[in-house]
Amino acid sequence: MSKVDVVLGTFYGDEGKGKIIDYLSEDADVSIRCSGGNNAGHTITVDGKKFAFHLIPSGILNNNTKAIIGNGVVIDPKVLIEEIENLKRNGYSVDNLYISDKAHIIMPYHIMMDNLQEELRGDKKIGTTARGIGPAYSDKYERSGIRVEDFISDRFESIAKRNIERKNVMFKSYGKKLVDANKVISEYKEYAKYLKPYVVDSVDMLYELLEQDKKIVCEGAQATLLDIDFGNYPYVTSSNPTIGGIITGTGIGPKYIDQIYGVLKAYSSKVGEGMFLTEQNNEIGDKIRELGHEYGTTTKRPRRCGWLDLVALKYAVRINGITALAINHVDTIGKLDKIKLCIAYNYNGKNTMRFSTNIDYLKKCTPVYEEFDGNFGDLSGITKKEDLPKNALKYLSRIEDIVGVPIRFIGTGAERNDMIIVK
Ligand code: GDP
Ligand code: IMO
Ligand code: MG
Repeated sequence: MSKVDVVLGTFYGDEGKGKIIDYLSEDADVSIRCSGGNNAGHTITVDGKKFAFHLIPSGILNNNTKAIIGNGVVIDPKVLIEEIENLKRNGYSVDNLYISDKAHIIMPYHIMMDNLQEELRGDKKIGTTARGIGPAYSDKYERSGIRVEDFISDRFESIAKRNIERKNVMFKSYGKKLVDANKVISEYKEYAKYLKPYVVDSVDMLYELLEQDKKIVCEGAQATLLDIDFGNYPYVTSSNPTIGGIITGTGIGPKYIDQIYGVLKAYSSKVGEGMFLTEQNNEIGDKIRELGHEYGTTTKRPRRCGWLDLVALKYAVRINGITALAINHVDTIGKLDKIKLCIAYNYNGKNTMRFSTNIDYLKKCTPVYEEFDGNFGDLSGITKKEDLPKNALKYLSRIEDIVGVPIRFIGTGAERNDMIIVK
């Protein structure tokens, strides 16, 4: 039977999923992006060279791995073409790239809408990536979205024209610049021509690959607390980055899934607005940001930083059915003298492991911390868990004990090989 492994973010994104996917794709036949769009930024560093993938599955760097953009993804064609061209410039083949005919297209009016909506939210803004993600998904569910199969067909012009007319009514009412339908349509027809050779019926293709017992790696984007259903609504993205989104975003039935890897950092970070209980909006947070280079891969915004929250992690484990953990930036946290780990919340005077995104509940919770010694020293070159310094092992085993899930990958640096694989 085919083996499907899934990689998911457990917090607010940017946990280092790209690096784990790159490793798992080494001997995989397929790597597939399932949800989200170019709000994602997945970094892989190979021999000092940084690749930031926004739409193309991170497995593309392995020549023998088919890289599929699944049906659950929203695609900005311009960004995708830039990514393809960048890979080609760096000597990588994109012959193995496939785009689902059922994925949806982000049009310029989606990006304009994203910006307008943020403007209208005023001080209640979400802090989106301004990539048009929310409006593209809204159109998908409202059934006026443009699927890839429409995009590359003769239907595109009339669908786009009708959509632009409707959007322009709104832009006009807010005194905004209108979309020039002819200009956009002729530009996007060129993009469609470029992308057409990559388009496949991905559901059918995956079905065949599953029948052939191929190894598939599903690349989660965003993360559990950004999930439209299970995250800190409304400070979330507009898709399901959790396990359900992997299934609906690919058409792979749950019975095929083997390992579900939950990726986290040895601390926490978040971009955008919304509650973040263990945030250190102080010199510790600043120090973590500098040590971990915590600036957005997509928007370059400084990330909010804080301690690792095991109550939230346990929630992610439950929601997704996570079978093993991948913890990155152990090297980064180990540069601090003292490390705090949130092992429970205090709610109404009592310690609890209950997590809820209910705002009234969270507002009454305060993190309960345990303190650990840092100063892990230089971790580079360590390939076995038992060779890690005592302080690092203590920290990691406390996480495993509380969460009840084994750590399978330990990140010791940004490079591809800076990782301990626990057998
Ligand atoms: P993703 O969106 O989950 O794939 O994560 P990002 O790529 O947005 O952010 C993770 C950042 O941490 C990237 O800059 C990675 O190169 C870097 N990184 C990943 N793992 C490690 C690690 O173990 N140590 C260090 N120092 N950096 C890491
Ligand atoms: P990866 O895959 C971190 C956040 C945005 C914002 C909220 C909504 O790299 O982990 P959106 O543009 O999706 O409507 O923004 O979600 N966000 C991410 N934060 N990493 C990501 O992806 C994110 N994708 C969306 O910052 O708070
Ligand atoms: Mg990222």
